[in-house]
Amino acid sequence: MPYNINHLTPVLFGPNMSLRTGMRLKEMGCKRVLFVYDQGIKKAGIPDKIIANCEALGIKTFLFEDVQADPPDYTVEACAEIGLKAKVDGVVAIGGGSSMDTAKVANMLQTNPPPLSRYLGFGGPPMKPGKKLVLIPTTSGTGSEVTNMAVITNSQTGNKGGPANNLLRATLSIIDPVLTVGMPPSITADTGMDAYCHAAEAVTSGQANPMSDIIGMEAIKLVCEYLPQAIKDGKNLEARTKMSFAAMLAGYAFNDAITHIGHSIGHALGAMYHIPHGNACGLAIGEIMEFVAPSTPDGIRRVATAMGLSVNGTSTEKVGAMVCDAARKLNKEIGLKTLKDHGLKREQLDEMAERSLAGPVMFSPRKVTKEDLLGILSKAYDG
Ligand SMILES: [Fe+2]
Repeated sequence: MPYNINHLTPVLFGPNMSLRTGMRLKEMGCKRVLFVYDQGIKKAGIPDKIIANCEALGIKTFLFEDVQADPPDYTVEACAEIGLKAKVDGVVAIGGGSSMDTAKVANMLQTNPPPLSRYLGFGGPPMKPGKKLVLIPTTSGTGSEVTNMAVITNSQTGNKGGPANNLLRATLSIIDPVLTVGMPPSITADTGMDAYCHAAEAVTSGQANPMSDIIGMEAIKLVCEYLPQAIKDGKNLEARTKMSFAAMLAGYAFNDAITHIGHSIGHALGAMYHIPHGNACGLAIGEIMEFVAPSTPDGIRRVATAMGLSVNGTSTEKVGAMVCDAARKLNKEIGLKTLKDHGLKREQLDEMAERSLAGPVMFSPRKVTKEDLLGILSKAYDG
């Protein structure tokens, strides 16, 4: 079967590499640059050094500091407007998935006519390349730093979706694990499970390929080993570095293989209840793996093997159940919140199942009905 390998995003990886942002922007010829981040990152003081470093090299800087979680289209348009008024020649995101996705689309709007709604979803108009784009993640999970996708909330419908286009990719991704050291345990858990889901869904996707399998398996292995360590001791730079690397690998894996049921549920719960993305994707991932196992016997064995499970001579159904148990155990160990923990009632599961039929569910190796989703959510309800 033919497949795409689109690993096109150059990466500068390593502790303190974010302090080379100015130098790299200068090399790209940038003189006027828009920085995009949220209030949390601002309060943590993370952009200060990076921006000062750029200004010291003579780069004129402009700021958009109001990125919102599950970025609504109107905040992306407000961000783009600042860049257009300032006639910037570069855009830099500092933050998690919401900041990077806001910057990706705001950058695209520097050279493509509004409204943004034209570009959401599949089959939009052809796009022109944006300005130079540098993405600096401060979490380890989203993978947005190396993907060609952005997820934006449509304020008219409340649905999450977005353009997927190689023109959305970063000119350069700067992955500096030091920036993730201050992440609190709950965000470390949520974003780390996002990386796990990207990898596990990619490896079991109907669009998996030999390259995404190799990369996805390594990402799963690293998350299982280092996520609990990063939560136990946030200052453990080795664990943080491995998680940054795992998130990048998982991003490469799912960019081509695409995610499936976990992210369909994740997008629905994000839009309905603003449950953090990685938490929403991960709270039923074990049950999802068990559900898809019969349709991807090789894929589920790869996930199991990467998780350190011994599956020789074991039936596919049993392997699915073992992966489910191991994922539930991981979720408990890292303190990932369940649907019950979020105060949601079992009576609300029906609507969640209905809304989860949208999104990348089509890439599930096993056909999924609303009843199937209801079964998955019911089993996962209280962890
Ligand atoms: Fe994700």
